[in-house]
Amino acid sequence: MTLRVGLIGFPVEHSLSPVFQQVALDALGIPARYELWPTPPAELQQRVASLRAPSTVGANVTVPHKEAVAQLVDELAPRARRVGAVNTVIVRGQRLLGDNTDAPGFLFPLRERGLPLADFRVTLLGAGGAARAVIVALLDQGCRHLTIANRTPERARQLVAEFGIGHALTLGPELLTVLGETDLLVNATSLGWDGRASPIPLDWLGQLPPHAFVYDLTYRETPLLATARQLGRAALDGLEMLVAQGAESFRLWFEREPPFDLMLRAAQEARAHRFGTIG
Ligand code: ATR
Repeated sequence: MTLRVGLIGFPVEHSLSPVFQQVALDALGIPARYELWPTPPAELQQRVASLRAPSTVGANVTVPHKEAVAQLVDELAPRARRVGAVNTVIVRGQRLLGDNTDAPGFLFPLRERGLPLADFRVTLLGAGGAARAVIVALLDQGCRHLTIANRTPERARQLVAEFGIGHALTLGPELLTVLGETDLLVNATSLGWDGRASPIPLDWLGQLPPHAFVYDLTYRETPLLATARQLGRAALDGLEMLVAQGAESFRLWFEREPPFDLMLRAAQEARAHRFGTIG
């Protein structure tokens, strides 16, 4: 029997996940296919129920369904509960377990680079679902110096209250006061996917200390990353995070160690095909 795993979202056509997940399945000789399961909101319940089919190992979940799927599974892993969203469903017999691998995915490239996150002063742009995974990851690393800046400051204030960490700002000039003392600037807003928009004026990046890292969760070149690089700051895009969250999902589904480097290379090639080369 060919096993199935797939991506639930809407739309999903442009996802890189099938590319690097299938490479891993094939390299390990696992008889499974990673499929795209485009699912309009009205069909979500039915889609999640269909995962109980014997051939199905699990699913990834993406926009706009991550929060809704958390309500539809039988059980939630603690980290999925903390993030408030599910990006991975694991089929265990007849039961569906919801987990979230975005936090370890976010951390992977930072840990690879040996960054001392517990001592880092982090400025996080955004207060949506992606930002929540970043906060959970940073808390688990012992990071205590966090500023959350969001267009709608009330959402940032809610996160500060919920997680008991950091302080909240808008994306306005008040942010300039913290950029000079920021070791890691993270863009978790949805701005940048068009390759043009930036959550803050680009010349503000000149305020960052020379050693600062700019990490954009977008997995293409963004003006934020290009400017950071021009100014001599380290710039990190979201592709390693994407592959690392997928590799962690793979471990949960198959209880095997996936070939990370092979997956990353496949993802880099697929991205170059879609967006051109980066850096
Ligand atoms: P995700 O799951 O990708 O985090 P989300 O929960 O919709 O998506 O959150 C999107 C984030 O991008 C939010 O922080 C949002 O700011 P608001 O809370 O003010 O909506 C931010 N964002 C989206 N469009 C933006 C824009 N034009 N300018 C600034 N921030 C924007």
